[in-house]
Amino acid sequence: MRFDICTLFPDMFTSYLSDSILKRARDKGLLEVHFHNIRDYSKDKHKKVDDTPYGGGAGMLMTPQPLYDCITSVKKLNSGPVIFMTPQGQKLTHTRTKRLARSNDSLILLCGRYEGIDERIRDLLVDKELSIGDYVLTGGELAAMVVVDAVSRFIPGVLGDENSAKEDSFSRRLSGKKEYPHYTKPAVFKGLEVPEVLRSGNHAKIEEWRKKHLR
Ligand code: ADE
Repeated sequence: MRFDICTLFPDMFTSYLSDSILKRARDKGLLEVHFHNIRDYSKDKHKKVDDTPYGGGAGMLMTPQPLYDCITSVKKLNSGPVIFMTPQGQKLTHTRTKRLARSNDSLILLCGRYEGIDERIRDLLVDKELSIGDYVLTGGELAAMVVVDAVSRFIPGVLGDENSAKEDSFSRRLSGKKEYPHYTKPAVFKGLEVPEVLRSGNHAKIEEWRKKHLR
């Protein structure tokens, strides 16, 4: 799956995408993430990308020209929907995340900064708006990273075992299923012991114990 991210701060993404599962997915060619610095598209001689709002009010807005040129140029490389990350968007849920992965080979994520973007960019180029929660971040970058991470878990092969995205404990909980307590080594930690039965090797007994402790 391919992501193209339009942002004023591409460097914010590098460390997160260069470690662990997402790094492996990129190395294996299962995940491609490309960055486009909106400022590079500014025709202003000082590469300005913001201005004051018509009608007054606090803060600055992202001007339409650099956004328009950046997104239209990215659309030549990526035929997926343009998703604007904003607290006013539809809430990103487990179901929406899965749907995004299943219905698209590629996505364009637009990260806003300042007080927002000129409305004409919404009218002309934005297909969908997504929020990662009811709070306001300093920009859309962290939200875009959340989308890349959560959607990538549904790309076949990214988690190693193809079933793991639907088999992990969080997914089981989200689909209303209960979960039993999990333990790993050591057998005793801060005086608390792992239940004897789980260390017994008796699979029938373990199954029984797990059923009894679903919550
Ligand atoms: N940009 C700023 N806050 C955001 C949020 N909560 N979700 C998505 N994008 C955002």
